Amino acid sequence: MIKKLFLLFSLSTFFAVQVFAQWSPEERERIGRLSYEDHQLMMKQLGITELRPGPSGNPQAPNAANTDESKATPYTSLPDPLVFKNGTPVKTADQWEKRKLEIFEDFDREIYGRVPAQTPAVTWEIVSEENTLNGDIPVTTKQLVGHVDNSKYPAITVDIQMTLTIPKKKTAPVPVILEFGWNFPMGRRRQQDGPTWQQQVLEKGWGYAVLVPTSIQADHGAGLREGIIGLVNKGQPRKLDDWGALRAWAWGASRAMDYFETNPDVDEKRVAIEGLSRYGKAALVTLAYEPRIAIGCIGSSGAGGAKILRRVFGEQVENLASSGEYHWFAPNFIKYAGPLTPMDLPVDAHQLVALCAPRPVFISVGSPDVEGQWIDAKGMFLAGVHAGAVYELLGKKGLGTTEFPPQETALVDGEIAFRQHAGGHTVGPNWPVFINYAQRYFSK
Ligand code: GCU
Repeated sequence: MIKKLFLLFSLSTFFAVQVFAQWSPEERERIGRLSYEDHQLMMKQLGITELRPGPSGNPQAPNAANTDESKATPYTSLPDPLVFKNGTPVKTADQWEKRKLEIFEDFDREIYGRVPAQTPAVTWEIVSEENTLNGDIPVTTKQLVGHVDNSKYPAITVDIQMTLTIPKKKTAPVPVILEFGWNFPMGRRRQQDGPTWQQQVLEKGWGYAVLVPTSIQADHGAGLREGIIGLVNKGQPRKLDDWGALRAWAWGASRAMDYFETNPDVDEKRVAIEGLSRYGKAALVTLAYEPRIAIGCIGSSGAGGAKILRRVFGEQVENLASSGEYHWFAPNFIKYAGPLTPMDLPVDAHQLVALCAPRPVFISVGSPDVEGQWIDAKGMFLAGVHAGAVYELLGKKGLGTTEFPPQETALVDGEIAFRQHAGGHTVGPNWPVFINYAQRYFSK
């Protein structure tokens, strides 16, 4: 019964099925059971006995998620990033710095959770170094492990895994694209023609790094008493405003930045963060919270990422709050699936995009016909639109339009960029566009 419930909640899309398929049946049973139990415990602490179920990602299902635009916007306004909680408008960049703190506080407490004031130190070790070719470009690849100090709770070990690849031919420190990497092939991705994203990056003379998020924090509720979250909590359950996996992964990216600052091959002022899907959400959270990162490529991040949570289209808050996905967020977030509703959220995704200002953010999505509608391309576009005023206040340019553009139209004139490619659940076809976009900033 418990197992069935978990399946019901988490396998609402093909992507989720893919993630699930990496585990053995026994492991799935264990993860399902423990996630369910921890989710129940959090509900109990919130005083909730029932949640509204989310819709299905299967368009054929009787409870399929809405894909009818005329039903997508039950709200008449969104929380205004440029108005203080006390009603005073934000008119200057200095005031924005103060307003930002209110917005961070709401995201911390209600959505993504707080990173503890003290987190353990990380010591980076170079495990191996190899000189090889990627395509025909000579590179040096380092395998790195970030050992997290666990002296306060030795029962939990956290070793962050990352690889860093730098082109051999360089005259100065190079920009680096940092990816939250999937450790198994994501989606039924056909091998695309032409160079891989890593080769495209190398052709510009840049390096790339791949960070393994699950080496920082497991991607399920069963792992919340382990990983960096469990280590800091000494194996105990989370408090209601504790961090979830998205902020834990973002914390790991900040530790990667610490390492880059010590590596003379890397220009730490020119680091981009990139990720797809749940790691697209993580990439946006990272860009918002880590000011040292210069630019972001946010791939198909959907709900919990760049998509307006109030929109009734594709994936819903009710899905995110279920036992299969709640671990990405603070336990407090669960209550927006009952008794509260998404309309009660003090902030929405456009404010997360706004927190990235004035740094450039590129919002990427695939085709609705190939990728499906779960991701809600328009919901992410609208977050870009409504973040625009903040960028403009800071002397930057937003998307430059409020009209959803035709597929394959690159809106790249400003510091908020958007492009819907013709492919599936991948950044793939948008890589060349993003790389050119990033070059504008990296060559300054
Ligand atoms: C599921 C989930 C999405 C998530 C995606 C993924 O589809 O509902 O929110 O982005 O998995 O990470 O692949």
